[in-house]
Amino acid sequence: VQTLPKEQGWAVSNLYLYQGFWCTAHFLKPLISFQRHFRAFDSDVIVATFPKCGTTWLKALVFSTLYRNQFARDDDNPLLSFTPHQLVRFLEHDLYLNNPCPDLENICAYKPRLFATHVPYASLPASIKDSNCKIVYLCRNPMDVFVSLWLFTDKLREENQEPLSLDEVLDKFCRGIYIHGPFFDQVLGYWKASREDPDKILFLKYEDLKEDIGSQLKHLAVFLGVPFTEEEDKQGVVEEIAEICSFEKLQELEVNKKGLFITGVPNKDFFRKGEVGDWRNYLTSAMVERLEKLIQEKLDNSGLTFKLSY
Ligand code: A3P
Repeated sequence: VQTLPKEQGWAVSNLYLYQGFWCTAHFLKPLISFQRHFRAFDSDVIVATFPKCGTTWLKALVFSTLYRNQFARDDDNPLLSFTPHQLVRFLEHDLYLNNPCPDLENICAYKPRLFATHVPYASLPASIKDSNCKIVYLCRNPMDVFVSLWLFTDKLREENQEPLSLDEVLDKFCRGIYIHGPFFDQVLGYWKASREDPDKILFLKYEDLKEDIGSQLKHLAVFLGVPFTEEEDKQGVVEEIAEICSFEKLQELEVNKKGLFITGVPNKDFFRKGEVGDWRNYLTSAMVERLEKLIQEKLDNSGLTFKLSY
């Protein structure tokens, strides 16, 4: 850790630059264990995201789609009793946290194995890239990510950390200095990889899920190799999954209202507003202009665009 470049984050005093992204010292050890010891199976499914892009939602959607024939019907969906983060566990933030070689076989109650990560594509273990396992990546428009991340991480502020003004936080965001940042590097890493190998990486956008969850779920199911059958269509299975995974439904479940996530964050903090365009309620026109310039600069010639909902 001592040899890595160090910076002050916005809720965390010390961030270290490891393989091009910023991490806390606490997560370096589990991250390296994950990189060294994880062996992917061809059948594995990994959900990958940048924090605040809708990880919790994506976990619920992939879990419910992939395993829908392993529990009876909607009423038996384990999402009713467990949080999405308990059902689809993070590799570096959870499974490898206190154990360099966790028994992943017995940890996963359902098959195929399903895991989550916030690690950039370039830093994933080689066996994930070299095997036939599948990755579902979800991204979100940078303005909403910025606001969601700021509101979420401000609650995590260390006692000795003075709150920063929104302008100061924006400055750090633009320079990429926050946990897992820079956001654009991660998004573009998965974007490029998904274009090179669309059978391996499905690249989804939060705004598209919001706009038409039904067709996105069907697309997801085809990608995962478990397309919805005509019979399921008639029974309204897609609508059931969309409903049980919706912000409104998940937010009101008792299990998501109480208890803490592994990092000590209350589970309820993963459900704030769940909307597209909430950035308008927080950002000044100068901030919007700065972000627009940044987005243009970063995404230039990439072919990736975001609906910002003006
Ligand atoms: P907001 O802060 O904009 O409300 P993550 O799961 O990656 O931490 O992302 C959290 C963001 O996703 C929060 O955004 C949260 O409200 C939103 N979210 C959580 N569950 C959702 C769901 N089922 N549908 C849509 N958005 C959801």
